[in-house]
Amino acid sequence: MTTDNDDERERTEPDRTGTEDESTIEADGRSDGAGGTDETTETEPADSRGTRADGSGSDGNSGTGTSDDHGDEIDDESKRRQLDDVRESPDGEFLTSDHGVRISETDNSLKAGQRGPTIMEDFHFREKMTQFDHESIPERVVHARGTGAHGYFQPYEDPDLEGYDDVSELTKATPFQDPEQKTPVFVRFSTVVGSRGSADTVRDVRGFATKFYTEDGNWDLVGNNIPIFFIQDAMEFPDLVHAIKPEPDDGIPQASAAHDTFWDFASLKPEITHMIMWILSGRALPRAYRMMQGFGVHTFRLVDEEGDSRFVKFHWTPKYGTNQLVWDETQKIAGKNPDFNRQDLYDVIEAGHEPEWELGVQIVETDDADRFEFDLLDPTKIIPETEVPVQPLGRMVLNETPDNFFAETEQVAFHPGNVIPGIDFTNDPLLQGRLFSYQDTQLNRFNSANWDEIPINRPLAPRHNNQRAGFMRQEINAGTASYKPNSIGDEYPEEASAEDGGYEHYAEKIDGRKIRDRSESFETHFDQARLFWNSMSEPEQQNIVDAAHFELGKVDRMEIRERMVYDLFNNVDHDFAVRVAEGIGVEPPESPGEEMPTHDDADPSLSMANRTPETIETRKIAVLVDDGVDGDQVSEIRSTLEDEGARVEIVSETLGEKDGTGGDDAEGGEIEADKSHVTTGSILFDAVVVPGGEGSVDALLEQGDAKQFVSEAFKHYKPIAALGRGTELLSALDLPDVETAADGELVTDSGVVTCRSEETSAFLEAVIDSIAAHRHWDREPSEVSA
Ligand code: HEM
Repeated sequence: MTTDNDDERERTEPDRTGTEDESTIEADGRSDGAGGTDETTETEPADSRGTRADGSGSDGNSGTGTSDDHGDEIDDESKRRQLDDVRESPDGEFLTSDHGVRISETDNSLKAGQRGPTIMEDFHFREKMTQFDHESIPERVVHARGTGAHGYFQPYEDPDLEGYDDVSELTKATPFQDPEQKTPVFVRFSTVVGSRGSADTVRDVRGFATKFYTEDGNWDLVGNNIPIFFIQDAMEFPDLVHAIKPEPDDGIPQASAAHDTFWDFASLKPEITHMIMWILSGRALPRAYRMMQGFGVHTFRLVDEEGDSRFVKFHWTPKYGTNQLVWDETQKIAGKNPDFNRQDLYDVIEAGHEPEWELGVQIVETDDADRFEFDLLDPTKIIPETEVPVQPLGRMVLNETPDNFFAETEQVAFHPGNVIPGIDFTNDPLLQGRLFSYQDTQLNRFNSANWDEIPINRPLAPRHNNQRAGFMRQEINAGTASYKPNSIGDEYPEEASAEDGGYEHYAEKIDGRKIRDRSESFETHFDQARLFWNSMSEPEQQNIVDAAHFELGKVDRMEIRERMVYDLFNNVDHDFAVRVAEGIGVEPPESPGEEMPTHDDADPSLSMANRTPETIETRKIAVLVDDGVDGDQVSEIRSTLEDEGARVEIVSETLGEKDGTGGDDAEGGEIEADKSHVTTGSILFDAVVVPGGEGSVDALLEQGDAKQFVSEAFKHYKPIAALGRGTELLSALDLPDVETAADGELVTDSGVVTCRSEETSAFLEAVIDSIAAHRHWDREPSEVSA
């Protein structure tokens, strides 16, 4: 408890170097800022650059016991320690009421007699039921479906930045300065359109939102897995979302753009064309959140100590490569495991893997901003990497799952307006509108301005201001002066100069008329859509055409389908427009659209075919077995793939132990099946391996589920491998245009690896290569029924 005894205080200068006596700040950190303590010597704010990062400075948050009060600089564990203070565990504890009274019975309500009515006085019943009645909060209006994880960001030691000797010449933002420092982050991935309970694998943009808990406050990089957006001005966002959400009369369809209102809107907005190309591509069907690129989308500014700025685009590049699912597979997964992406991230981190991304920037000096054929402020445009390379700054690692989905993943609240010194906005009119929208929407979700006090949102940096009260206020703000200017509180909390880490907006010169209009420089709508089309591999182009057949095939109104073909696609590429038209009952256009660019430019970085990693770490491999399998082969397959970081599961017709003595030497023991065909399917795996063993292979040949497993994996372009007699299962399926091994051979054909020789290690090497390639697009699976 503090008292307001201002007269006794005397003012001392704070130590700007960070060597200030910790005990003084720790004891007084919050009270000073709040404007009154008993018998304190009066200090300047404890928050100067040198001291804020340590636990004493953070103690300013201790109103709810959530401070990082360990006296250390911010490190990758700081947020965890802060959250530890609010974690509740029932282990070994009595059941109590919300107010700490021990409860003796929680299954029966208090009644007037065993069969009598419930009595009003039953405080335990009323409390339990009231809490339950109120335990949901509104879902996000967009991005309702998501999942999150904790981790850290660490800058590279001396990143090789072209044109800069040191990262500090680029930005003063603290998370980039010290390669020893790990800044805690919380990341939430999401789909955009579907409701909170919708399936993960729908065709949609994925959100990629990162909260950096820096010593200078929270920085939220609220991006997507696609580097551009549908619209150019925030004013259009409600229209876009109304068009793509379920139609207002029947509330159908859930989590899908494939209906009339979305394509009606799209067909009337040529600026959407570039984004539509990305949405129709495999980018909208990520294999996993850990296999997605992320982008800040808008052009931002980085600002250095001198106040000079340059433009940047942020890029996250995943260590595990950028990979996709195929459409048929996504639809089946949505039934078999609608939590596919959520579960994947959770399982992978729990298994000890650490999904990782490299953060890079494309840098454009202010004087260079006009050299492009597009406007840097237009969010429907990328800066092609052929023009400006991505320069790596550091890496982000996700290494911890949340303890509680609601408290952390649901309650995390991002806001692109959360920036720190060294990072600033541009006039991108979409970004500008977002700066309003997120703060506003959180008021709807949390019904309070105090959403920033919830532990997952609370910064590690100290917070002191005169924003007060409101629903569910957690902090106890001491002192009488909650206004400025004040003399009673000696002017605290005091504004910080730039030198003391105060945020100063980049002083951009603005000179313009007040006008509701759009710049002419935003008018080139088809150039980059064509660049994207040109950059795709042939299978990727076919995916786009197939996707358009599905999406527009679901559109009832012919005029909408026609507008998409004639007004948009035919202005991207004539052949593309014809191919789409042929699948959706639209008369193919006879000649290219009048606005179709003729350039053949391509940017290899846009194709996912160029983003496959060497590693197979985290890939999920099924080994199909039954009684009589060659257990030694199973063990060797498993250990070799697991040594490479892959996750292996044994799949059989039923769960339980399988006889593993089917090898030549009749050894191999028992093999435990992890999954049965009832609960899994090839769609939940990256690859399938069929080991030998006479009994096992004979059984598999009789099982429709086993044959379906392999055929479907083939249809979805996945790596398939078979060893010894296992190859007979593949031969029986008559996979089109695939050669399988004869006796004594090892054959790899279109990602199908078969081996009928003793060369198991050569076989496994070929299997690893085939898995690393992710999908084998050179197949012709259309004849395969699965
Ligand atoms: C004017 C355009 C936009 C508006 C008005 C807008 C508005 C919103 C709103 C209201 C939410 C829900 C926030 C919540 O309840 O927590 C949201 C979430 C989100 N938005 Fe936007 N958005 C816009 C454009 C964008 C763009 C261009 C991106 C990508 C760069 C983006 C990325 C996200 C992400 C990732 C989330 C989910 C955050 C989370 O995981 O909690 N939005 N947006």
